[in-house]
Amino acid sequence: MPDRRLICPSAELLEGGKGVRFALQPGAPDERGFVVRYDGAPRAYVNVCPHAGTELDWQPGEFFEEAGLYLVCSTHGALFDPGSGLCIAGPCKGECLEPIRVEEHDGHVIIPGTTP
Ligand code: FES
Repeated sequence: MPDRRLICPSAELLEGGKGVRFALQPGAPDERGFVVRYDGAPRAYVNVCPHAGTELDWQPGEFFEEAGLYLVCSTHGALFDPGSGLCIAGPCKGECLEPIRVEEHDGHVIIPGTTP
């Protein structure tokens, strides 16, 4: 898998803790993706709220609400299930964050390669 891409060390993602932002394309200047740890696994999404298209994090990397149970949009407070990306409360209830496939190998979170 030559085009797999390192996102961050696994240890950087604590359950319900701060997330890591990353560029969707290698070398892209903007960090439009993010990954958090939930239910023991890394979960990654495009950092765009389905309601008004803003980024979710209220401070860079701060995606969870205070209890660490749901992802929260800082603009109008929509709550998202971290495991599925489904909005469970707020103005975009029933809509979903766009998922990004990530895997965890040898202590690192990666985007798997698209070529065999
Ligand atoms: S932009 Fe996210 S809830 Fe409105």
